[in-house]
Amino acid sequence: MFTSLSAILTKAQNGRYAVGAFNINNLETLQAVMNAAEKERSPIIVQTSEGAIVYAGMEELSALVHLAAQKTKLPVVFHFDHGKNYDLVVEAIKSGFYTSVMFDGSSLPYKENIRKTKTIVKLAHAKKISVEAELGLIAGKEDFVSVTEREAAMTQPSQAADFVNQTGCDALAVAIGTRHGAYKMKKDSDLDFERLKAVAEATSVPLVLHGASGVPARIKSLCTKYGCEIASAKGIPDSQIKKAVSLGICKVNIDTDLRIAFDAGIRKFLKEKPGVIDPREILKPAKELMTSVARHKMQLLGCTGKG
Ligand code: G3H
Ligand code: 13P
Ligand code: ZN
Repeated sequence: MFTSLSAILTKAQNGRYAVGAFNINNLETLQAVMNAAEKERSPIIVQTSEGAIVYAGMEELSALVHLAAQKTKLPVVFHFDHGKNYDLVVEAIKSGFYTSVMFDGSSLPYKENIRKTKTIVKLAHAKKISVEAELGLIAGKEDFVSVTEREAAMTQPSQAADFVNQTGCDALAVAIGTRHGAYKMKKDSDLDFERLKAVAEATSVPLVLHGASGVPARIKSLCTKYGCEIASAKGIPDSQIKKAVSLGICKVNIDTDLRIAFDAGIRKFLKEKPGVIDPREILKPAKELMTSVARHKMQLLGCTGKG
Protein backbone atom coordinates (compact mmCIF):
# COMPACT_ATOMS: atom_id res chain seq x y z
CA MET A 1 0.00 0.00 0.00
CA PHE A 2 1.48 3.32 -1.03
CA THR A 3 1.71 6.15 1.45
CA SER A 4 3.39 9.54 1.35
CA LEU A 5 6.94 10.26 2.50
CA SER A 6 5.59 13.00 4.74
CA ALA A 7 3.17 10.65 6.48
CA ILE A 8 5.75 7.92 7.05
CA LEU A 9 8.39 10.37 8.32
CA THR A 10 6.04 12.36 10.57
CA LYS A 11 5.09 9.09 12.26
CA ALA A 12 8.75 8.17 12.62
CA GLN A 13 9.58 11.61 14.02
CA ASN A 14 6.81 11.34 16.62
CA GLY A 15 7.81 7.77 17.48
CA ARG A 16 11.55 8.62 17.57
CA TYR A 17 12.58 5.95 15.09
CA ALA A 18 13.77 6.05 11.47
CA VAL A 19 12.63 4.32 8.30
CA GLY A 20 15.11 2.60 5.98
CA ALA A 21 15.30 3.89 2.40
CA PHE A 22 16.72 1.17 0.18
CA ASN A 23 18.15 1.78 -3.29
CA ILE A 24 17.04 -0.74 -5.89
CA ASN A 25 18.23 -1.35 -9.45
CA ASN A 26 16.61 -4.68 -10.23
CA LEU A 27 13.93 -7.20 -9.31
CA GLU A 28 16.15 -9.18 -6.95
CA THR A 29 17.02 -6.21 -4.74
CA LEU A 30 13.39 -5.09 -4.62
CA GLN A 31 12.22 -8.58 -3.64
CA ALA A 32 14.94 -8.80 -1.00
CA VAL A 33 14.00 -5.54 0.74
CA MET A 34 10.24 -6.15 0.46
CA ASN A 35 10.76 -9.57 1.98
CA ALA A 36 12.70 -7.96 4.83
CA ALA A 37 9.87 -5.45 5.41
CA GLU A 38 7.30 -8.29 5.53
CA LYS A 39 9.38 -10.27 8.00
CA GLU A 40 9.94 -7.21 10.20
CA ARG A 41 6.42 -5.77 9.72
CA SER A 42 8.19 -2.52 8.87
CA PRO A 43 7.27 0.48 6.72
CA ILE A 44 9.67 0.81 3.81
CA ILE A 45 11.00 3.45 1.43
CA VAL A 46 12.14 2.04 -1.91
CA GLN A 47 14.20 4.46 -3.96
CA THR A 48 15.74 4.68 -7.41
CA SER A 49 18.65 6.94 -8.32
CA GLU A 50 19.27 8.60 -11.67
CA GLY A 51 21.83 5.85 -12.29
CA ALA A 52 19.25 3.14 -11.57
CA ILE A 53 16.93 4.74 -14.10
CA VAL A 54 19.65 4.81 -16.75
CA TYR A 55 20.38 1.14 -15.99
CA ALA A 56 16.86 -0.30 -15.79
CA GLY A 57 14.40 2.40 -16.93
CA MET A 58 12.01 4.57 -14.93
CA GLU A 59 8.89 2.82 -16.23
CA GLU A 60 10.33 -0.64 -15.69
CA LEU A 61 11.43 0.00 -12.10
CA SER A 62 8.19 1.79 -11.39
CA ALA A 63 6.11 -1.16 -12.64
CA LEU A 64 7.98 -3.50 -10.30
CA VAL A 65 7.61 -1.22 -7.28
CA HIS A 66 3.93 -0.49 -7.96
CA LEU A 67 3.17 -4.22 -8.09
CA ALA A 68 5.11 -4.85 -4.89
CA ALA A 69 3.24 -2.02 -3.14
CA GLN A 70 -0.13 -3.37 -4.33
CA LYS A 71 0.68 -6.77 -2.92
CA THR A 72 1.43 -5.63 0.63
CA LYS A 73 -0.54 -4.02 3.43
CA LEU A 74 2.64 -2.40 4.74
CA PRO A 75 3.19 1.32 4.09
CA VAL A 76 5.45 1.73 1.04
CA VAL A 77 7.00 4.93 -0.34
CA PHE A 78 8.46 5.05 -3.84
CA HIS A 79 11.11 7.75 -3.85
CA PHE A 80 13.25 9.33 -6.57
CA ASP A 81 16.71 9.56 -4.97
CA HIS A 82 19.28 12.33 -5.60
CA GLY A 83 17.61 14.09 -8.49
CA LYS A 84 20.41 16.45 -9.53
CA ASN A 85 19.05 16.87 -13.01
CA TYR A 86 16.21 19.38 -12.57
CA ASP A 87 14.42 18.31 -15.76
CA LEU A 88 14.51 14.64 -14.75
CA VAL A 89 12.99 15.48 -11.35
CA VAL A 90 10.22 17.39 -13.13
CA GLU A 91 9.73 14.37 -15.41
CA ALA A 92 9.59 12.08 -12.37
CA ILE A 93 6.91 14.30 -10.79
CA LYS A 94 4.88 14.45 -14.00
CA SER A 95 5.18 10.69 -14.59
CA GLY A 96 2.96 10.02 -11.59
CA PHE A 97 5.14 7.02 -10.69
CA TYR A 98 6.69 8.37 -7.49
CA THR A 99 5.15 9.18 -4.13
CA SER A 100 8.14 11.44 -3.36
CA VAL A 101 11.18 12.97 -4.99
CA MET A 102 14.50 14.31 -3.83
CA PHE A 103 15.78 17.41 -5.51
CA ASP A 104 19.50 17.49 -4.78
CA GLY A 105 20.64 21.05 -5.30
CA SER A 106 23.48 20.64 -2.80
CA SER A 107 26.20 21.46 -5.29
CA LEU A 108 24.45 24.67 -6.41
CA PRO A 109 25.03 28.10 -4.87
CA TYR A 110 22.72 28.55 -1.84
CA LYS A 111 20.27 30.93 -3.53
CA GLU A 112 19.97 28.76 -6.63
CA ASN A 113 19.40 25.66 -4.48
CA ILE A 114 16.55 27.54 -2.74
CA ARG A 115 15.06 28.81 -5.99
CA LYS A 116 15.07 25.42 -7.75
CA THR A 117 13.95 23.44 -4.68
CA LYS A 118 11.07 25.88 -4.18
CA THR A 119 9.85 25.37 -7.75
CA ILE A 120 10.10 21.59 -7.40
CA VAL A 121 8.14 21.74 -4.12
CA LYS A 122 5.38 23.73 -5.83
CA LEU A 123 5.11 21.29 -8.73
CA ALA A 124 5.30 18.24 -6.47
CA HIS A 125 2.83 19.43 -3.84
CA ALA A 126 0.27 20.18 -6.53
CA LYS A 127 0.36 16.42 -7.20
CA LYS A 128 0.52 15.44 -3.50
CA ILE A 129 4.13 14.33 -3.89
CA SER A 130 6.53 15.00 -1.00
CA VAL A 131 9.96 16.57 -1.51
CA GLU A 132 13.29 15.84 0.14
CA ALA A 133 15.93 18.52 -0.34
CA GLU A 134 19.64 18.63 0.48
CA LEU A 135 21.62 21.34 2.19
CA GLY A 136 25.36 20.89 2.63
CA LEU A 137 27.25 18.51 0.42
CA ILE A 138 27.30 14.78 1.17
CA ALA A 139 30.50 13.51 -0.35
CA GLY A 140 30.95 10.84 -2.93
CA LYS A 141 33.98 8.58 -3.07
CA GLU A 142 36.25 11.09 -4.71
CA ASP A 143 35.13 14.32 -2.99
CA PHE A 144 36.90 16.12 -0.14
CA VAL A 145 40.48 15.17 0.29
CA SER A 146 40.96 17.17 3.48
CA VAL A 147 39.03 17.40 6.76
CA THR A 148 38.74 21.20 6.43
CA GLU A 149 37.21 20.82 3.01
CA ARG A 150 34.70 18.30 4.34
CA GLU A 151 33.73 20.45 7.32
CA ALA A 152 33.22 23.50 5.13
CA ALA A 153 30.68 21.53 3.09
CA MET A 154 28.61 20.39 6.08
CA THR A 155 25.08 21.68 6.75
CA GLN A 156 25.06 25.03 8.57
CA PRO A 157 22.35 24.93 11.28
CA SER A 158 21.59 28.65 10.87
CA GLN A 159 21.03 28.17 7.13
CA ALA A 160 18.88 25.05 7.61
CA ALA A 161 15.94 26.90 9.17
CA ASP A 162 16.01 29.58 6.47
CA PHE A 163 16.28 26.95 3.73
CA VAL A 164 13.31 24.92 5.00
CA ASN A 165 11.17 28.04 5.52
CA GLN A 166 11.92 29.37 2.09
CA THR A 167 11.57 26.13 0.14
CA GLY A 168 8.73 24.40 2.01
CA CYS A 169 10.49 21.04 1.60
CA ASP A 170 9.10 18.06 3.54
CA ALA A 171 12.40 16.45 4.56
CA LEU A 172 15.98 17.64 4.67
CA ALA A 173 19.13 15.64 3.90
CA VAL A 174 21.96 16.83 6.13
CA ALA A 175 25.70 16.65 5.71
CA ILE A 176 27.23 15.71 9.07
CA GLY A 177 30.24 13.70 7.94
CA THR A 178 28.82 10.68 6.12
CA ARG A 179 29.78 9.94 2.55
CA HIS A 180 28.46 7.65 -0.16
CA GLY A 181 30.09 4.36 -1.06
CA ALA A 182 32.12 1.77 0.83
CA TYR A 183 35.00 3.99 2.01
CA LYS A 184 33.58 6.41 4.54
CA MET A 185 35.61 6.75 7.66
CA LYS A 186 39.18 6.68 8.84
CA LYS A 187 38.25 6.59 12.52
CA ASP A 188 35.04 5.64 14.31
CA SER A 189 34.05 8.91 15.99
CA ASP A 190 33.64 10.84 12.82
CA LEU A 191 30.03 12.10 12.64
CA ASP A 192 29.29 15.65 13.77
CA PHE A 193 26.52 15.01 16.30
CA GLU A 194 26.67 18.55 17.71
CA ARG A 195 25.86 19.84 14.25
CA LEU A 196 23.00 17.35 13.87
CA LYS A 197 21.57 18.42 17.24
CA ALA A 198 21.75 22.08 16.23
CA VAL A 199 20.08 21.43 12.84
CA ALA A 200 17.31 19.41 14.54
CA GLU A 201 16.73 22.26 16.98
CA ALA A 202 16.70 24.86 14.23
CA THR A 203 14.08 23.19 12.04
CA SER A 204 11.14 20.88 12.57
CA VAL A 205 11.22 18.90 9.29
CA PRO A 206 12.27 15.22 9.46
CA LEU A 207 15.99 14.85 8.75
CA VAL A 208 17.59 12.37 6.36
CA LEU A 209 20.93 10.60 6.66
CA HIS A 210 22.59 9.66 3.37
CA GLY A 211 25.74 7.60 3.05
CA ALA A 212 24.63 5.57 6.05
CA SER A 213 25.80 2.07 5.13
CA GLY A 214 27.73 0.21 7.80
CA VAL A 215 29.82 -2.15 5.66
CA PRO A 216 29.10 -4.99 8.15
CA ALA A 217 32.19 -7.07 9.02
CA ARG A 218 30.38 -10.34 8.26
CA ILE A 219 29.51 -9.25 4.70
CA LYS A 220 32.85 -7.58 4.08
CA SER A 221 34.78 -10.69 5.07
CA LEU A 222 32.58 -12.87 2.85
CA CYS A 223 33.22 -10.47 0.00
CA THR A 224 36.97 -10.39 0.48
CA LYS A 225 37.17 -14.17 1.06
CA TYR A 226 35.69 -14.70 -2.38
CA GLY A 227 37.88 -12.20 -4.20
CA CYS A 228 36.28 -8.75 -3.91
CA GLU A 229 38.97 -6.14 -3.24
CA ILE A 230 37.35 -4.03 -0.52
CA ALA A 231 39.68 -4.80 2.39
CA SER A 232 39.99 -1.13 3.44
CA ALA A 233 36.26 -0.36 3.17
CA LYS A 234 34.72 1.12 6.31
CA GLY A 235 31.13 2.18 7.02
CA ILE A 236 29.26 3.95 9.80
CA PRO A 237 29.13 1.85 12.98
CA ASP A 238 25.64 0.81 14.14
CA SER A 239 26.10 2.72 17.40
CA GLN A 240 26.50 5.99 15.46
CA ILE A 241 23.42 5.32 13.34
CA LYS A 242 21.45 4.71 16.53
CA LYS A 243 22.71 7.96 18.01
CA ALA A 244 21.85 9.87 14.83
CA VAL A 245 18.29 8.49 14.99
CA SER A 246 17.99 9.51 18.64
CA LEU A 247 18.96 13.06 17.59
CA GLY A 248 16.33 13.47 14.88
CA ILE A 249 17.25 11.42 11.80
CA CYS A 250 14.02 9.87 10.46
CA LYS A 251 15.09 8.45 7.07
CA VAL A 252 18.29 6.45 6.59
CA ASN A 253 19.56 5.70 3.08
CA ILE A 254 21.16 2.35 2.34
CA ASP A 255 22.67 1.29 -0.96
CA THR A 256 26.28 0.14 -0.44
CA ASP A 257 25.39 -2.54 2.13
CA LEU A 258 22.92 -4.09 -0.33
CA ARG A 259 25.56 -3.95 -3.08
CA ILE A 260 28.21 -5.75 -1.05
CA ALA A 261 25.68 -8.36 0.11
CA PHE A 262 24.65 -8.98 -3.51
CA ASP A 263 28.28 -9.21 -4.51
CA ALA A 264 29.24 -11.56 -1.65
CA GLY A 265 26.31 -13.87 -2.35
CA ILE A 266 27.13 -14.21 -6.03
CA ARG A 267 30.88 -14.61 -5.57
CA LYS A 268 30.49 -17.30 -2.91
CA PHE A 269 27.95 -19.26 -4.94
CA LEU A 270 29.94 -19.17 -8.16
CA LYS A 271 33.12 -20.25 -6.40
CA GLU A 272 31.41 -23.14 -4.61
CA LYS A 273 29.17 -24.27 -7.48
CA PRO A 274 31.12 -23.59 -10.69
CA GLY A 275 28.92 -26.02 -12.62
CA VAL A 276 25.69 -24.05 -12.09
CA ILE A 277 24.58 -21.74 -14.90
CA ASP A 278 20.98 -21.02 -13.87
CA PRO A 279 20.72 -17.32 -12.85
CA ARG A 280 17.80 -18.15 -10.56
CA GLU A 281 20.08 -20.39 -8.51
CA ILE A 282 23.03 -18.03 -8.72
CA LEU A 283 21.03 -15.03 -7.47
CA LYS A 284 19.15 -16.80 -4.68
CA PRO A 285 21.86 -16.53 -1.98
CA ALA A 286 22.53 -12.93 -3.02
CA LYS A 287 18.87 -12.13 -2.43
CA GLU A 288 18.90 -13.89 0.94
CA LEU A 289 21.97 -11.98 2.08
CA MET A 290 20.39 -8.66 1.03
CA THR A 291 17.26 -9.58 3.00
CA SER A 292 19.33 -10.28 6.11
CA VAL A 293 21.13 -6.93 5.72
CA ALA A 294 17.83 -5.05 5.31
CA ARG A 295 16.26 -6.82 8.31
CA HIS A 296 19.20 -5.83 10.46
CA LYS A 297 18.81 -2.18 9.38
CA MET A 298 15.10 -2.19 10.22
CA GLN A 299 15.84 -3.54 13.69
CA LEU A 300 18.62 -0.99 14.16
CA LEU A 301 16.45 1.95 13.07
CA GLY A 302 13.60 0.89 15.32
CA CYS A 303 11.02 0.53 12.53
CA THR A 304 10.44 -3.19 13.12
CA GLY A 305 6.78 -3.69 13.99
CA LYS A 306 5.84 -0.13 12.93
CA GLY A 307 4.23 -1.25 9.65
O1 G3H B 1 23.46 8.01 -3.21
C1 G3H B 1 23.68 7.34 -4.19
C2 G3H B 1 23.18 5.97 -4.29
O2 G3H B 1 24.06 5.08 -3.65
C3 G3H B 1 22.93 5.63 -5.71
O3 G3H B 1 24.12 5.37 -6.37
O4 G3H B 1 24.01 6.79 -8.41
O5 G3H B 1 25.42 4.71 -8.33
O6 G3H B 1 22.93 4.55 -8.41
P1 G3H B 1 24.13 5.36 -7.99
P1 13P C 1 25.49 4.36 1.06
O1 13P C 1 26.45 4.46 -0.06
O2 13P C 1 26.15 4.59 2.37
O3 13P C 1 24.70 3.10 1.06
O4 13P C 1 24.43 5.57 0.89
C1 13P C 1 23.36 5.46 0.01
C2 13P C 1 22.64 6.74 -0.20
O5 13P C 1 22.85 7.72 0.46
C3 13P C 1 21.66 6.77 -1.27
O6 13P C 1 21.10 8.04 -1.46
ZN1 ZN D 1 22.54 9.60 -0.96
